[in-house]
Order: sequence, then C-alpha cells, then structure tokens
Amino acid sequence: MKSPARIGLVGALHQELAAVLARLPDEQRQRVGGRDFWAGHWHGHGVVAVLSRIGKVAAATTATALIERFGVGRIVFTGVAGALGAGLRVGDVVVASGFVQHDMDASPLFPRHEVPLYGRARFATDPALSAALADAARTVLAHADATLGAQAVAEFGLHAPQVQQGLVASGDRFVATAAESAALRQALPDALAVEMEGAAVAQVCHDYGVPFAALRTLSDRADDAAHVDFTRFIDQVASRYSAAVLEAYFSKL
Ligand code: ADE
Repeated sequence: MKSPARIGLVGALHQELAAVLARLPDEQRQRVGGRDFWAGHWHGHGVVAVLSRIGKVAAATTATALIERFGVGRIVFTGVAGALGAGLRVGDVVVASGFVQHDMDASPLFPRHEVPLYGRARFATDPALSAALADAARTVLAHADATLGAQAVAEFGLHAPQVQQGLVASGDRFVATAAESAALRQALPDALAVEMEGAAVAQVCHDYGVPFAALRTLSDRADDAAHVDFTRFIDQVASRYSAAVLEAYFSKL
C-alpha cells in the first residue's frame, strides 16, 4: 500500500510543540522564514512539526512553507480556543468542520465575512481527516484522568469533557470581553469557538488543495475571565490533550 502523504502538524503554542517533539524519535530541524520546522516520524508516519505563532498572517506563512518547502500532503492544527457555542465548557474539544474570518469585512463591496474574490466566507475542513481526529479526541477525552492526572481534572473542573464538530471563527484579536463574544454569537450564531489562526490555514489549504483538519481545546469562555489561568491550562490540559489525540490518531493510521 502507498504510504500516506507527509503530514504537517501545526501548533500555536510552545508547550504543544514540545509535547509533539518529545514523541518524534528522529526529528531534524530546518529553519525557513524565521521558523523552525521539525521533520521526523511518528509511529513510522512522516511528519513536519512547527510552531505557527499567533495570528492569521503567521499561520498563513507557516502553512504555505509547509506545503511549498516541505511538500506536506495534509495539515493538522492543534491549539486552544475560546468557547462561543451554548453548552460548551472549558476543557471540551472542538474539531472544526469549517472556518470563517470573523474580522473580514469588505462591505459594502462584498458581503460581510466573505473573502473577496473567493466568493465565499467559509472554508470547509477535510471530512475524513476531521472525522479521524474527532474519533481520536473522543478516545482521549473518555479517559481524561489517564491523560491529565486526577489533580488537573479536579483543578479545572473537567467533568465529562465533550468533543463537538462545527464552525470555528478566527480573527486577529483575543476575545476577552462578554460584550465582544456576544457580538460574535450574534454575527455568527453557529460558531462553536473563536481563535486566531485556523481560517488562515484553511484558506491556504483551499488554495493548494491540501486536506486540513483542526482541533481546539476550549481554554476559556471568550469573556472577561478569558485570561485567567490561561498558561496553566495550556500546560496542564491543552498541550497534553493535543499530544494524546495525535498519538491516538497516528497509532490508528
Ligand atoms: N484562543 C483561546 N482563547 C481565545 C479567545 N478568547 N480569543 C481568541 N483566541 C483564543
């Protein structure tokens, strides 16, 4: 059987990249565009892992380099997001079915959110890759204690964390007021979460015809408490979920 294309793993957070690199036995560093790209193998599958940094431009540069310079045939993004959807809680995971840039607005020339000259506001993720990632996430979250330890589960009140699939909104702004998240909910009622990179990677992957999937652990409710314990949550929960989900994904591939 032909081995699947090399896969680009993009994280927005240092801690996530560290957790991923700890699982690659043979990674080699290459510096392109001011970033370190780490090529190696995970369960025998070729991967290139990289830190995107924060925001849409940084994410687009990273995705483009992965495709153009490293020839990846698929991209998976992991990170954290603020919850928008009703019923979603800190510690739940959202696997994106599609992305929209919530801060794209070329009206009245184009409808609000539409990316000019693309004729669309939303960019879908790859259904098969997303389904595999969601499966892996469900497996990990079903045993959150084993992945995080009982203390982290208790500290962050992670009771029966859920995986949901749906729309994710991206923009170059950390959403940290209840008023702003309410405005986002009104403008994009079906958005489950808000973050700062995914829509840019989705657009680059659309341009190149590269399958893309993204997983976001909800770190906050995108409200006035959004910054509380952010770093600790990333250390103790999100980066561990990301590595465990990718481990579950690669072990089944
Ligand atoms: N990533 C994690 N939380 C976020 C928020 N509240 N806004 C934007 N990006 C985020």
